[in-house]
Amino acid sequence: MVAALAPLYPWLKAGHVIFVIFWMAGLFMLPRLFVYHQEAAAGSAEAAAWVERERRLLRIILRPALVAVWVLGIALALSIGAFADGWLHAKLVFVLGLSWYHGYLAAYAKKLARGERPLSGKALRLLNEVPGVATIVIVVLVIVKPF
Ligand code: HEM
Repeated sequence: MVAALAPLYPWLKAGHVIFVIFWMAGLFMLPRLFVYHQEAAAGSAEAAAWVERERRLLRIILRPALVAVWVLGIALALSIGAFADGWLHAKLVFVLGLSWYHGYLAAYAKKLARGERPLSGKALRLLNEVPGVATIVIVVLVIVKPF
């Protein structure tokens, strides 16, 4: 536990939850944009507009939220000395998975910008279930703390 951080605990938690909401909103939205993007003709002005929307969502919401969730989450864990707790270890496995998913979506946006469309609309819709399932597991781990 880092004693200097303990008085900041409620503020760190408020900030953490705020940026978790921004991050999850972006993770839910981006594959939706990919579906609409792929419905536009390749090389069209509409496809170019979707590239710009995806780039802005990643740059303005997703990347800053990812960094803030990690920084505030680690500060929170230090403020209450949670790094030895089983629930946090399990949570970190799922959060690392979500961070990998974020990177996968960012790489997919680059492919779309180059005119590649590796996944079908159906596969993209299925992909959209990933953050929902991860959120359920993470929230149960952090609130119920089953171990
Ligand atoms: C990035 C790494 C993360 C770390 C190190 C981390 C760590 C923590 C810690 C230590 C707490 C305080 C728990 C307590 O007060 O008992 C917390 C609270 C919380 N975290 Fe995270 N977290 C991370 C990411 C996430 C993600 C991705 C989500 C959701 C998808 C999330 C959702 C929450 C929620 C909802 C709370 C509030 C729980 C409560 O009211 O007690 N966290 N987190």
